[in-house]
Amino acid sequence: MNRLLAISGGSTLIYTGLAVLMGVLPGIWLSNVPPTPGLKPLTPLEARGRDVYVSEGCFYCHTQQVRPLPGDKPFGRPSAPGDYAYQTTELLGSERNGPDLSNIGARQSSSIWQFIHLYQPRAVVPQSIMPAFPWLFSVVDKVPPAEKAVSLPPEFAPGGTVIPNEDGKALVAYLLSLKQPALAPTQPGAVPLSRSSGPLAFDASKGAALFANNCASCHGPEGKGVPGTFPPLAGDPVVNAANPTAHIGAVLHGLSGHVINGHKYEAPMPAFADQLSDQEIADIIDHERSSWGNRGALISAADVVAARANEPLQKQQTPSKQVSPIAAPAPTFDPAEGSKLFAENCAACHGAEGKGVPGTFPPLAGDQVVNATDPAEHITTMLRGLGGKVINGQKYEVEMPPFADRLSDQQIADIINHERTSWGNHGPLVTLADITKLRAKK
Ligand code: HEC
Ligand code: HEC
Ligand code: HEC
Repeated sequence: MNRLLAISGGSTLIYTGLAVLMGVLPGIWLSNVPPTPGLKPLTPLEARGRDVYVSEGCFYCHTQQVRPLPGDKPFGRPSAPGDYAYQTTELLGSERNGPDLSNIGARQSSSIWQFIHLYQPRAVVPQSIMPAFPWLFSVVDKVPPAEKAVSLPPEFAPGGTVIPNEDGKALVAYLLSLKQPALAPTQPGAVPLSRSSGPLAFDASKGAALFANNCASCHGPEGKGVPGTFPPLAGDPVVNAANPTAHIGAVLHGLSGHVINGHKYEAPMPAFADQLSDQEIADIIDHERSSWGNRGALISAADVVAARANEPLQKQQTPSKQVSPIAAPAPTFDPAEGSKLFAENCAACHGAEGKGVPGTFPPLAGDQVVNATDPAEHITTMLRGLGGKVINGQKYEVEMPPFADRLSDQQIADIINHERTSWGNHGPLVTLADITKLRAKK
């Protein structure tokens, strides 16, 4: 009897002791952890968004806990107890089918992107398996004043204009509030920022990985962007400029209200100065400059250091102005007319989307002549036709017919400018005078 009492009493005591030690005490200790400095309580709108986050089940697929593991690095710094100070029921999540969202407000700060992505993830991330949440939006005929339309790519737009409803706005406000404040170096989980500066060689695989994590959601994994919403980087003049100042400036400080190839983008490009080291920025920039047909001169981390030191200067000047040859007064061009004329005269062979027919008619998307800075060959091809040319290693049996006698100079300019601004192409625009000049030259 005595032994039984000793065994059951002893084990109860051990169990209670362990429970207090491993459950209760840490609970008490953690509930007294002060909020991470810089952490803000949610506003009423953000708190409503958090409720939407819960009721839509976002946490079934998304965690908010960054582990101190290499695989978690893209999501932010390792989470610290103080990060959860203002949360009742922490939304840690238990499964990660999509990325961790602890720092999504810093990693993807564009509300425009967030709205497009929630309305239809496939519109910005083609391979996404995330469900669409169209019920967080309404479709209207006319955008009410004080509302903003979600700029969806045409193929994903329904028959009207899409605006977020109150739940949608609250959810995005909540997502953008999810920002990890920087930790003081002594706090658990703090990672020292590496600011290397030597002229290190460009690591192609690092550049590609960093681009995928930081830039691809807007500019596309292949640098094609999202037409009308996020500019393509393939063929971009700033990315291909010999002078990298504007390119580095755009990545460090972000960009907004800039006209790129005649198009004004509504969404701003976020700044990365505080999120990436000099070496990381150099690797990303070199990745852009050597991918998707781009041929910009490579840079080193030292260039980024120099640009950082020049910060105030950079902010005053609109970065790409000195470098981009196209930012100058844009030639007038009627996109609707260009697209109509292309459909009537060229699409039969080159395809409505400029994809051509493999082996029979060349694609015009990504074509060198269409993207060339000097438009002479593009214009003469249109005027006089083409035969026997080997394009990207492929010889075409069929000839391209001449259009000099069938189209006016203005029509030819409109078609050429349509090709140069469509399907990811980024050739500088041509003017009516360019055509007239080359027509006269026999
Ligand atoms: C069935 C799983 C699933 C659910 C439910 C889900 N997501 Fe996702 N989410 C994903 C996947 C997979 C990705 C990665 C692909 C992509 O970006 O679309 C993703 C990506 C994201 C991203 C971009 C993350 C980044 O790092 O770029 C955000 C923001 C996001 N989801 C928010 C939400 C919100 C808000 C909800 C709830 C309304 C939600 N998700 C519901 C699977 C899911
Ligand atoms: C939230 C979406 C978004 C993300 C993420 C993003 N960008 Fe951008 N980027 C834009 C937009 C929008 C513009 C055009 C801004 C304008 O026209 O004012 C732009 C412009 C640029 C330009 C300037 C192009 C020109 O011709 O002037 C470069 C270069 C660039 N981005 C590179 C990057 C790199 C590198 C990253 C990743 C480190 C990145 N972007 C991440 C949206 C984004
Ligand atoms: C009958 C089919 C056909 C039609 C119609 C046609 N093309 Fe072509 N196009 C071709 C073929 C085939 C080539 C390649 C010729 C060669 O290299 O020998 C070509 C080449 C080109 C090239 C040069 C590509 C390069 O890299 O050199 C451009 C630019 C072009 N076409 C634009 C147009 C435009 C614009 C129109 C409408 C005004 C048009 N084409 C109508 C068949 C056609």
